[in-house]
Amino acid sequence: MQTHRWLRTPEGAAPRISYGADYNPDQWSREVWDDDVRLMKKAGVDVVSVAIFSWAKLQPAPGVWDFAWLDEVIDLMHANGIGVDLATATASPPPWLTMAHPEVLPVTAEGHVLSQGARQHWRPTSPVFREYALTVVEKLAERYGSHPGVVAWHVNNELGCHNAYDYSDDAAAAFRAWLADRYGDIAGLNHAWGTAFWSQAYGSFDEVLPPRLAASFPNPTQQLDFARFSSDALIDYLVAEREVLNRITPDVPVTTNFMITGGTRHADYAAMAKEIDFVSNDHYVTADRDELAFSAAITSGVAGHRPWFLMEHSTSAVNWQPVNRPKRAGELIRDSLTHVAHGADAVCFFQWRQSSAGAEKYHSAMVPHAGEDTRVYRDVVELGRILQGLGDVVGSDRDPAQVAILFDWQSWWGSELDSHPTELLEYRREALEWWTALANLGIRADVVPTDADLAGYRMVVAPVLYSVPEALADTLRAYATAGGHLVTTYFSGAVNEHDHAYLGGYPGAFRDLLGIRVEEFRPLFAGETVPLSIGTNGSLWSEPIDVVAGDVEVLATYEHEELGAAVTRRPAGTGSAAYVSTRLGLDGLAAILPELLSGAGVTSELPEALRSSVELVVRAGANGRVRFFINRTDDAVDLGGVATDFLYGSATLPPRGVAIARG
Ligand code: GLA
Ligand code: GLA
Repeated sequence: MQTHRWLRTPEGAAPRISYGADYNPDQWSREVWDDDVRLMKKAGVDVVSVAIFSWAKLQPAPGVWDFAWLDEVIDLMHANGIGVDLATATASPPPWLTMAHPEVLPVTAEGHVLSQGARQHWRPTSPVFREYALTVVEKLAERYGSHPGVVAWHVNNELGCHNAYDYSDDAAAAFRAWLADRYGDIAGLNHAWGTAFWSQAYGSFDEVLPPRLAASFPNPTQQLDFARFSSDALIDYLVAEREVLNRITPDVPVTTNFMITGGTRHADYAAMAKEIDFVSNDHYVTADRDELAFSAAITSGVAGHRPWFLMEHSTSAVNWQPVNRPKRAGELIRDSLTHVAHGADAVCFFQWRQSSAGAEKYHSAMVPHAGEDTRVYRDVVELGRILQGLGDVVGSDRDPAQVAILFDWQSWWGSELDSHPTELLEYRREALEWWTALANLGIRADVVPTDADLAGYRMVVAPVLYSVPEALADTLRAYATAGGHLVTTYFSGAVNEHDHAYLGGYPGAFRDLLGIRVEEFRPLFAGETVPLSIGTNGSLWSEPIDVVAGDVEVLATYEHEELGAAVTRRPAGTGSAAYVSTRLGLDGLAAILPELLSGAGVTSELPEALRSSVELVVRAGANGRVRFFINRTDDAVDLGGVATDFLYGSATLPPRGVAIARG
């Protein structure tokens, strides 16, 4: 991020965690709006995101504009002390546009044109779409930029949620330009893509296409570059809207809502974060509670640990999973406060009032179908009350941990390409497993992109750091030799930025640092395990490691005739470099991590009795340190004397509860 610019707030306003939702008054009749205001005030709502999907209402026909309703909404909110995070309304183009210009519709790898009738049916690279969309942005900026009720701009919505990968002719043209910029000439591309393989050599950029449905595995570097290009195309689109906004309303900060959640992987959010004034994220709970905390930590990492905005999460059930269950008692508040712990200075939901029609009518909201006399709305009011008591936290950073986990979109995209040793590997799951294992030992971790400053971390874990340009290998070597403790795993350092294998043995980029050499990968079948000397089983992957350097310490071995060392560590300068050659799983990590942590001088900040049951997160700023204790279990937990000066909660954490304390 260039600078960190938060919501515009009225002069002299007391700092507070902002609270609210996506607000879609255009789905409701006018009298409902007054009831909305009443219920918003009762809940302590002070910010709403408006007009996200309002293009068709704002511009019902080419050249025809209707702002009267939005004027009234923004005035109504402002008169009631509720700020508007005003969307640019470009997420879903109206039917008249796509009927007149079907050339804006995205095309799949199979060549199918996606129809209007849902949302986000537009090509990120379409010049025609961009012209229409930027006109809407300009109109909104001119009309509302100086309205004191507008606290921020919300660019589009979840860029790429449904349209990240477009294989159209527009995409092909933009891809060629992106490639020409990256490689300079076609010889550069031919080298990078290894086109000597399978007769793929290109005579000019005009012959290059996106990786459309082909007869066999498309060129892997082409696939990787297309993933990079598609992420950059979304960033380029974001910048185009932002430039209009910055030109007309330089004083209003600009954000866009990321999707750091579950398996969503189409955008490099570390790169996107550099283009906005503050980071916003949308998170939806899947199966695993730790996944929420892990996502929040990634969000904090891409935000440089400055405060960020939780733009969407759900009060209860969603409508898009195979089976959609409501949240259990306590989860609405605990989930929200977990995000706050990890740096969210705003807590918002999708959406304010549950729709009565449309595809999301069974998605929970702050005001459910059943109305205000509901458990959900009562929790919403309670959460609003809690957030108002957390003014001391506002503006504070997430306090650095002793351990960092590297999270890298390049390695995510690269490690999950087809035609690999196994298709069972899931990059994000690997990183999450380390997160959970550390949490089980009461160790806080930051999750950071590869360009983060690592100097302050005692230990850096790089799980499946697959794609490693030489400069990154140098950075990690320098980190270790200067006293840091690097831990990496199987399928790390395998290739450079062009997806070319490092020669001479695996794990190529780290082989010398680790003092080991691997000739062949030996992935395991689904359900297959291999016993380890530490009393647990490895899964997913194994490797016959040749220990090359004399100072390599073997921390675990395989109990298998074809295999020897499984986990190694070697001194490097004043630090060390460790290697884990199989998926250890939570029990295996529990067995090996204490040795790795103690070697790195990392200690838990929680007493032993609390280590697996409580997640500790710390924020620190002008008002000092604030510690968040989050109950990871379904049982009550007694914090004992660990904290006394509570901002929220008490030493007895209820099941799924949270306590927040100074100091
Ligand atoms: C996304 C979108 C919202 C809504 C929610 C539902 O986050 O941005 O408009 O569709 O999903 O979970
Ligand atoms: C076939 C092809 C080869 C190669 C191998 C890989 O035999 O003819 O070019 O792709 O499969 O197993």
